[in-house]
Amino acid sequence: MEIVILPTPAEVGRAAAAKIAHLVARRPEAVLGVATGSSPLAIYAELAARRAAGLDLSRVSAFALDEYVGLPTSHPESYASVIRSTVTEPLGLDPERVHVPDGLAPDIEAACARYEDAIAAAGGVDLQILGIGANGHIGFNEPTSSFRSRTRIKTLAPRTREDNARFFASLDEVPTHCITQGLGTILDARELVLVAQGENKAAAIAAAVEGPVSSMVPGSVLQWHRTATVILDEAAASRLQLADYYRYTFRNKPDFQRWD
Ligand code: F6R
Repeated sequence: MEIVILPTPAEVGRAAAAKIAHLVARRPEAVLGVATGSSPLAIYAELAARRAAGLDLSRVSAFALDEYVGLPTSHPESYASVIRSTVTEPLGLDPERVHVPDGLAPDIEAACARYEDAIAAAGGVDLQILGIGANGHIGFNEPTSSFRSRTRIKTLAPRTREDNARFFASLDEVPTHCITQGLGTILDARELVLVAQGENKAAAIAAAVEGPVSSMVPGSVLQWHRTATVILDEAAASRLQLADYYRYTFRNKPDFQRWD
């Protein structure tokens, strides 16, 4: 796992966007896994700026990590809406190539299976963007999620509902269920890029990066991936024991491995 510590949240976004732009330059039809929430917003803003400067993302496909169950797609906080307004439109993606799990499907299990099939039909995810919850979740794989899980319905942990209540008028409006790609689905992506900013992520980051691999900290499953990069601001990195080593490693990175 590569750990990159940068001074500010904006630099975290710029670095992750540089990695994605590097991929798209090599592979214009790249398949991205896209997260919602606040963590990746700086990435999308930087990619939109790069698009204005000539980066062509029109052949890129995208698969969202998750979606609330039962929220109309017209609701501004449905991930269908959020992905449209923060990813598809600003980045100039073809809406036909952007996929979000169907949280309104009458048969949720069949919808989850179709989502897995669609990812496979697209050739799999080249690069999965991830945030991390304060309780260590990635996607909405809450603590004790199976490492081999696939796209499925999950009950949101009370803490996740409380954390996400900031996007809704009240806690009661936050759905209790979601569809999320599983940890096994996420691990199948060819590359993982997790971004985190702020002190309130420091404990989850320390546990995921330096703690034991445990389903109690779903983000720790990144330790099993061959190509995972964790890009942090100083606050999110503040509880890492080996922070100086990660800084030293990044400073001394061989040129052929650079993407920034
Ligand atoms: C969202 C997702 C979640 C978030 C996590 C952090 O699609 O999969 O795992 O990445 O809850 O959320 P923020 O970035 O809002 O702190």
